[in-house]
This record gives sequence, C-alpha cells and structure tokens, in this order.
Amino acid sequence: MYKMTKNNSFDVDTICIHGAHKNTEPGTPVREPIVLSNIYHLPKDKEPNWSGVGHGIYTRNGSDNQFSLEAKMAAIEHAQDCALFASGVAALSAVFWTFLPTGSHVICSKVCYAAVNKLFGGMLTERYQIEADFVDTTDINEIKAHIKENTKLIHVETPGNPTTGISDISEISKLAKAHNIILSVDGTFASPIYQKPLDLGADISIHSMTKYINGHGDAMGGCVCSTKEIIEKIKLGAMINTGGIISPFNAWIIDRGLMTLPLRMEKHSNNAMEIAKFLQSQNNVTFVYYPGLESHPQHKLALKQMSGFSGMLCFGVKGDDLKQKEFLNKLSLITYALSLGDTDTLIVHTSKNDAKIKNYPQEFQNGFFRMSVGLESAKDIIADLKYALDNY
Ligand SMILES: Cc1ncc(COP(=O)(O)O)c(C=O)c1O
Repeated sequence: MYKMTKNNSFDVDTICIHGAHKNTEPGTPVREPIVLSNIYHLPKDKEPNWSGVGHGIYTRNGSDNQFSLEAKMAAIEHAQDCALFASGVAALSAVFWTFLPTGSHVICSKVCYAAVNKLFGGMLTERYQIEADFVDTTDINEIKAHIKENTKLIHVETPGNPTTGISDISEISKLAKAHNIILSVDGTFASPIYQKPLDLGADISIHSMTKYINGHGDAMGGCVCSTKEIIEKIKLGAMINTGGIISPFNAWIIDRGLMTLPLRMEKHSNNAMEIAKFLQSQNNVTFVYYPGLESHPQHKLALKQMSGFSGMLCFGVKGDDLKQKEFLNKLSLITYALSLGDTDTLIVHTSKNDAKIKNYPQEFQNGFFRMSVGLESAKDIIADLKYALDNY
C-alpha cells in the first residue's frame, strides 16, 4: 500500500535542522514562532469547514507549529505525510481506532508497550468486539499461524520494549501485503535515525516523540507517518474527533529537540555499546541484551534493518528481588525513573513477580533492569554501575 517518495534531496542531519526546504525569505524569523492562539479570525464571505484539517480554523484542526513539525517528520521518515498527537499513546490509539472496525482481528507483538497491552487486552477489544492475538513477532511463523480472514492490522514494536527483541519488518511486510493487511511499526526504541520502517515495507510508522525525538525529558508527543491517504483518514477521524492533539508549545519544544537528534543518537549508541560490553564482563551480571552485541539473539537482523543500535539495553544481576533492589539503591548517577531516550541515563526494574515477565525470554525470568543509556560520560556511567555491582 505504501509508496515511498523521497520528497527532498537533503541528508537527514540537514532535514532535522531546516526541514525539507530551507526558507531564506528576508525578514522571516529563522526560528519558527510559537503560535499559542487556539482560535483564528474566520472568513465572513464563506462557510468555514468546521470538521476539516487545516490552518486558521481551530487548534484541534491543526496548528502552524504542528504542521511544520509534521513536514519535517514526514521528510525524515521518507513518508508522504505525518500526523502529530499529544503523546505516543494518542498516536497509537489513533491508528488502532482508525483501522480496527468492530469484528476485526489484530496481531500484535507480545512484547509491547504497556498501554498497547491494555488496549488490546480488553479496553479496545471488549468495547468494540475486536479480537487480538499477542504473538512473538520475532518469529515470522508465529505471525503466519495467526492470520485470519478478518485480520486488518499487524502491529509490531521493534526493538520491543523492554526486551529489545527485533522483528523483521521487511519479511512481515511481505506477509501483510500478501493478505491485504496493514502493517504498523512502533520504532520508538530505534528512533527515526536508525530505522526507517516505511522503506522496509511497513504502511505506518509510529514514534513516541516523548522519547528520543524530543530527547530532553520535558515534553510529550507522538507521530504517525504514512501515505497522504492514510494520514488524511487518521486526521479527519481520530485526530479531530477524539482530540489527542499536540499543543503548539510541545510541537515547538520537540522541534527544537529534533534539531540535535542525529548527534544525540550517535552518543546514545556509542555509550550503550561501551556499557553493554562492560556489563557483559562482570561476574554478577547474569545476562545483557543489546542489539549491538553479537550475543543478542537477533543481532544479524539488527545489522540488516537498523543503521545504529540506539541506547536501550536490558540486563540481570545475581540474587533475589531484594538483592536486585539493593543494587538499584547503590546507584547514584543513574536516575531511577520511567521513560527513555532522555539526556539522563534512566533505569527501571521489573521484578520476577511482575505478570508481564512471562512474555519475555528465559534469561529475564529472575527479574531484570531496563536501562536507557543517556548522554553523560560513559566512564561515569560505568563507574556508577561498577560501584553498585561491587557493593550490593
Ligand atoms: C515503545 C513505546 N511506544 C509508545 C510509548 C508511549 O509513549 P508516550 O508515553 O509518549 O505516550 C512508549 C512509552 O514508553 C514506548 O516505550
């Protein structure tokens, strides 16, 4: 369904700063002004299109800051168009709400973000009588085995949150196309710098912009990139009428973060590789999952479909739940907080008693840590980990 249009000739580093076209008109501001009016003077000589998408109506129909960031994101993702939302979850919900009618069936990665688990584990499925199968999308045969007459969407998260499992976008897209099924990919862990789902055959690419794209832990947003036709459908339905619109202020903040995304991703990746190798060398570390390590189960696939390995990794430490919490308590530089893709190195712990853990590989079953490696010096992050590992 998706047709790629590279609508510009700039490299991604340039697009992140200038967009697809550089405006040099004298007197225009170099930085995009923030337009915080939510209403606009309407033309008196014609009936406004209250339910249309466009500038100058009402901010829920779209704002200038939204439109300029959408144009940049579409160019970065090699998409025809983009729709922004108030959060990653609002972007995901808009896709599900648009493409899953009552009576339809969805196949979803069994390792996926918690809200997706809830939406397909009852919230959307029970309300709209939608069937959902959570499958191991790192195994194409699992997906094949679950396709039904009424399957309308395959939703894949790759790398998956939290395990970093990699699913083969190109293979899954061939399967989806053969059955006329839409394939959506949440590539938040990779960022649009290291993975281009639409180039690999996906119909829809989704990101939580709250994470790497914004990158500074201060604004929330989400984006959906696809064809003009798909984006128009999403905007006219879900965006305007369920209302998860991005604020002009957040669009502006995220645009500022986006300007340094390629630079930040390089540092996130280099740091993560160094830290993954350090963790692997430690006696009381039970396992490390990082797509850049040869020991990662889908390392070869990561090499094929990603141009960098990003900053997300998982590891385990020896000992029971209490001991694992003690390790956490010994960390001082690394921040114990949710989210990812931030300047700060962030860590969260999943206990072996957490119900979600049964969906994860064997190594994870004793409890594990997910770490989003930040932009601090790798030496300092390693020193913090080393101290905690030697003293818990
Ligand atoms: C892979 C992935 N997708 C979507 C989301 C949801 O994004 P948001 O928190 O911006 O709604 C998250 C949040 O952690 C995530 O990790």
